[in-house]
Amino acid sequence: MKAVVYNGPRDVTVKNVPDAKIERPTDVLVKITSTNICGSDLHMYEGRTDFEKGRVFGHENLGEVIEVGNAVDRIKVGDMVCLPFNIGCGFCRNCEAGLTAFCLTTNPDPKMAGAAYGFADMGPYNGGQAEYLRVPYGDFNCLKLPDDAREKETDYVMVADIFPTGWHSTELAGVKPGDTVVVYGSGPVGLMAAYSATLKDASMVMVVDRHPDRLRLAEKIGAIPIDDSKVDPVQQVMDLTQGRGADKGCECVGYQAHDPQGHEHPNMTMNNLVKSVKFTGGIGVVGVFIPQDPGSPDKLYKEGEITFDWGLCWFKGQSIKTGQANVKAYNRHLRDLIHVGKANPSFIVSHKLSLDDAPNAYQNFDARNDGWTKVVLRPGQ
Ligand SMILES: NC(=O)c1ccc[n+]([C@@H]2O[C@H](COP(=O)([O-])OP(=O)(O)OC[C@H]3O[C@@H](n4cnc5c(N)ncnc54)[C@H](O)[C@@H]3O)[C@@H](O)[C@H]2O)c1
Ligand SMILES: [Zn+2]
Ligand SMILES: [Zn+2]
Repeated sequence: MKAVVYNGPRDVTVKNVPDAKIERPTDVLVKITSTNICGSDLHMYEGRTDFEKGRVFGHENLGEVIEVGNAVDRIKVGDMVCLPFNIGCGFCRNCEAGLTAFCLTTNPDPKMAGAAYGFADMGPYNGGQAEYLRVPYGDFNCLKLPDDAREKETDYVMVADIFPTGWHSTELAGVKPGDTVVVYGSGPVGLMAAYSATLKDASMVMVVDRHPDRLRLAEKIGAIPIDDSKVDPVQQVMDLTQGRGADKGCECVGYQAHDPQGHEHPNMTMNNLVKSVKFTGGIGVVGVFIPQDPGSPDKLYKEGEITFDWGLCWFKGQSIKTGQANVKAYNRHLRDLIHVGKANPSFIVSHKLSLDDAPNAYQNFDARNDGWTKVVLRPGQ
């Protein structure tokens, strides 16, 4: 089968790899029809993780079931399914508690919890930027889509990761109706966080970034764009909230946060959040941070550490929650919002391309080139 293979920093090719196949009786085999490129892929693409050369990328996957293992009951050949980026077992103590991003059995590394497709340190599973994908524990991990699956495919494929992840950041922050919310990052995840806050009836949503195309999308869904290349974002949030700060804050950038000139400061968004969220406010961090980053220009962050305004955070009585999104905790509900027409997360999608276009798409999305806000690859087209 054809797949997007990582060769080394900023180098992917589309080439033939061994076909994905049923390996265990609980597996399901999916013919991928939509698979997104994610900001998480970019950390790996840039060589800033230990993603192995020769592996296949792709953790935001949707497609048609073409084969099921002997022990699969619920999922049938022909079903259209969206796959959470997390691979859960369904029976460990974390999966049972709904914490499928921290599954205790699907990652063979005993020091790790959580597995994902085509993801550094998240188990040996290949990604779905390919013609076919093996889905372990298919009954547990497949989200069945309704009869409008093909028609609304570009909306539904956002449910594999970024829509639930954006939603998760608002859950971690504790967003409630009437809240004011500041989101750092207007990439796909930040836009989904802003969209989720809006769906939860936030009274005001502010989004900080410096890319006009991304900020325009934030504005389109009713958020207030804040361009930190032109204004001090903390001051702007203060001014918009009568000097109190936002009730809740979402971190949707991660460890490669940088200033508008491009210099990385892994503590930048966290410290800006502490400053721009109110006393007793909540902060949800879904931007990825990692324990070791040898490629970091920041000395401390090579060991995953940052200088953090702990004193101010403590003084303000803020709460911080973090981590990968437990996609299964939200994906049915978000699917249903799409089905009834109350959510259309595909508004962020700028490009629908064939698998063969992946190298060019990676290059443009990685450069955050104007107009490249989210890419969906469509194998077989
Ligand atoms: N927790 C999860 O489950 C989960 C899931 C998906 C993605 N992620 C992570 O979320 C993060 C965002 O993903 P994405 O797909 O939106 O990526 P992206 O890289 O396309 O978007 C990040 C945005 O942040 C902006 N930015 C950079 N520095 C900034 C700063 N100091 N202040 C404000 N904005 C800044 C960039 O200009 C960019 O638009 C990544 O770290 C990704 O790995 C986490
Ligand atoms: Zn993703
Ligand atoms: Zn589990």
